[in-house]
Amino acid sequence: MFRFGLRRFATAAEAASPYGIKVSKAQGSVNGFVGAIGNTPLIRLSRLSEETGCDIYGKAEFMNPGGSIKDRAALYVVKDAEEKGLIKPGGTIVEGTAGNTGIGLAHVCRSKGYKCVIYMPNTQSQGKIDLLRLLGAEVFPVPAVAFENPENYNHQAKRHAEKTENSVWTNQFDNVANRRAHIETTGPEIWAQLGGKLDGFTCATGTGGTLAGVTRYLKEVSDGRTECWLADPPGSVLFSYITSGGKLNERTGGSITEGIGQGRVTDNLKPEIKLINNALHISDEKSIAMVYRLLDEEGLYMGASSALNVVAAYELAQKLGPGKSVATILCDGAYRYADRLFSKKWLDSKGLYEAIPEHLRKYIVLE
Ligand SMILES: Cc1ncc(COP(=O)(O)O)c(C=O)c1O
Repeated sequence: MFRFGLRRFATAAEAASPYGIKVSKAQGSVNGFVGAIGNTPLIRLSRLSEETGCDIYGKAEFMNPGGSIKDRAALYVVKDAEEKGLIKPGGTIVEGTAGNTGIGLAHVCRSKGYKCVIYMPNTQSQGKIDLLRLLGAEVFPVPAVAFENPENYNHQAKRHAEKTENSVWTNQFDNVANRRAHIETTGPEIWAQLGGKLDGFTCATGTGGTLAGVTRYLKEVSDGRTECWLADPPGSVLFSYITSGGKLNERTGGSITEGIGQGRVTDNLKPEIKLINNALHISDEKSIAMVYRLLDEEGLYMGASSALNVVAAYELAQKLGPGKSVATILCDGAYRYADRLFSKKWLDSKGLYEAIPEHLRKYIVLE
């Protein structure tokens, strides 16, 4: 009687709850903040899929507990330092970052009992500094100077760790533990979620950890069949680097996107760059229009790098042809960027107001 009742419950739950949530797929409990990182849903973007005749998917990385894809890298660079014996309980993690990696690290450090020190260019908003401080990090805003200058925020972070006992500079750009996070988690999750039916993958790069790691895994598991493409914003050199077979390093203009675009091939990207099939250059006009489309058509409130990724997935789907499956990354939500992305004044100042389709301008609700 009891067993029969249980079985009936499981079947009903698997079928669907009254709200359409598959209760049987819910995971068990996890251990602390770090246990909640990863295993994000893969969202099929219905309108864009319909338009292309393909299945276009976005990996919902904004659902990580710190709010972005960078939670995975933050966890892995800290884990790597622990495994190598570089840090002991109560130690200090130091990083140079103006964005999501700092937020991920601040959370991971709190949950593991480490101190967190963040160096960033002093051109960053007070909001970002305040957020890191309220997450318990010690923040050093320093003059914004080029990487070649010894006073660049990354070099200052490195020196801070060198002179602090029981401290490590996690060096997200060239520490390949970052890429490992995506070889071991993001790539396998996407492949399993689609039961191996994946023809294309594309995303933009900041450190290159996500693109390099996911590409490495997908190329191996698909025997090279899954096409992996870089998506690049204006102002990054990687589009010209990849499309010229490594001969050119051209950088033109700048971009409104944050966290992506790169002036060099990082150590995270280097080992896998030959596996990348090709590259797409995505304009800010296309990215900003997609921010608004995702909101209007899918109910997804996404930052500009996620929107750029979705434009790239759409273009890759068109290239691969109907019936194919393409996945990309929804890196973070629009919450931290709303005062710009939805401001008429800001859009005008960037010459992007006209890029928003007329019927979507109703979402421009800020001055
Ligand atoms: C919003 C956002 N999108 C994309 C990326 C790029 O990820 P990766 O550093 O793995 O190349 C970052 C990295 O900081 C980011 O903050």
